Amino acid sequence: MKLEAICKETVHLAREVGAYMRREQSVVTAADVETKSLNSLVSHVDKEAERRLVLGLKNIYPDAGFIAEEGTGEPNKNGANWIVDPLDGTTNFLHGLPEYAVSIALHDGEKVIMGVVYEVGQNECYYAWKGGGAFCNDRPIRVSTNPHLSDSLLATGFPYYDFHKMEAYLNLLRECFQKTRGVRRWGSAAVDLAYVACGRFDGFFEYSLNPWDVAAGAHIVEEAGGKVRAFTPTNDPIFGREIIAYSSAIEEELVQLVTSHL
Ligand code: IPD
Ligand code: CA
Ligand code: CA
Repeated sequence: MKLEAICKETVHLAREVGAYMRREQSVVTAADVETKSLNSLVSHVDKEAERRLVLGLKNIYPDAGFIAEEGTGEPNKNGANWIVDPLDGTTNFLHGLPEYAVSIALHDGEKVIMGVVYEVGQNECYYAWKGGGAFCNDRPIRVSTNPHLSDSLLATGFPYYDFHKMEAYLNLLRECFQKTRGVRRWGSAAVDLAYVACGRFDGFFEYSLNPWDVAAGAHIVEEAGGKVRAFTPTNDPIFGREIIAYSSAIEEELVQLVTSHL
């Protein structure tokens, strides 16, 4: 099957599972919340959504293994893998906030070749496949063209369990407050990246992320004309637990700002 067709089927599946999550959000209660580790929450909704996604993705492209947050399926060591976060933004979801997403990427063993981020609360589905451009609800999207950091709106994820870079991170934030229009903490890295891809945010940075948080969104940013990198140029932004994403127009200023602290 062609990549474009795989992508369209994945969009359909993400929308279906997103509809399940939307229904569950109105009935989920504090009793449904489990704590996996410090501030890392999960409920039956994350697990059931992942079960449904893995079943569906096996039908779409059976040769790929799975790297999925809640541990469903087996990774394929030498070949293709689906990289799945069934519910990115679980804390928002469990607190009744609308910013959460389904995030699905396809990795061919060397690089990401397709990504889908469905922001459930906004009913906006972002997707891209290698060489095909990036879209939101079937309309083409591009990163921001604003060339000045001083006119930019940035996004980040605050540290919530890994505090070893706290001082440097807070110093970076202080400088961002002074040099940009502002910084948002949306609560879903997948949505942060989708918003960079469509130009709502000019840039995004965060550390201690997992591949399922960023693989799909990073691919969509690149297909929308933007760039992603790790803080250290030799590190990998998908598997290396640190990422900066941005439009090329503010590349120099933003990369210099972030890497001078982190
Ligand atoms: C989290 C969200 C959040 C980011 C965290 C992620 P989860 O994913 O993407 O924005 O700051 O680092 O772990 O736990 O909601 O799937
Ligand atoms: Ca996540
Ligand atoms: Ca998750």
